[in-house]
Amino acid sequence: MPRSARPASRRYPSGCAKVAGLRADSPSAQAARTVRLWNVVAGRAGAGLLLGPLAVDEDRRGLGIGSKLMREALWRAARMGHRFVLLVGDGPYYARFGFEPAPAGLDLPGPVDRARFLAFEIIPGALANAGGMVVATGEMERSRRSVAAEQRLAA
Ligand SMILES: CC(C)(COP(=O)(O)OP(=O)(O)OC[C@H]1O[C@@H](n2cnc3c(N)ncnc32)[C@H](O)[C@@H]1OP(=O)(O)O)[C@@H](O)C(=O)NCCC(=O)NCCS
Repeated sequence: MPRSARPASRRYPSGCAKVAGLRADSPSAQAARTVRLWNVVAGRAGAGLLLGPLAVDEDRRGLGIGSKLMREALWRAARMGHRFVLLVGDGPYYARFGFEPAPAGLDLPGPVDRARFLAFEIIPGALANAGGMVVATGEMERSRRSVAAEQRLAA
């Protein structure tokens, strides 16, 4: 398969949590929507996820696709045991999913519009006393199946 025809989830493997992504099979549908989450360590708050980008093709917006992707991404993140999700985006859009301004003590590398730096606690209190720099870990999320396979190989 040519690189450009691969689903985006396979074009950007490094550091990407397999929490949500493109689910379309045909090249025309691949560009319809995407949401990605990345493993990070957020200073004293420890391990969590950074969400972005979230995007829906211009001609398919307003149909609830973005909301569906967000809810599924957050549901999967919770199911995998993650404690919080951070993102940089429009507060008025993300507030409906429970995102609030990120704790003042947390920092992102590079210039950041603080008003757009948002956080969602999957576990209430996960970001209490959070402080320090958010750093991408570059780790891939491992499914339960791949962990089991690794354990079988190691046995
Ligand atoms: C943001 C985006 C993903 C929403 O996708 P979508 O499928 O249209 O979203 P939904 O259909 O679930 O929700 C549409 C609602 O969100 C609102 N909305 C969309 N973008 C918004 C924004 N930036 N700020 C506030 N509200 C926004 C719409 O006005 C609409 O409101 P309504 O429900 O009251 O009618 C899409 O507009 C997009 O891809 N935008 C460009 C990329 C982008 O901005 N990504 C987010 C980074 S901040």
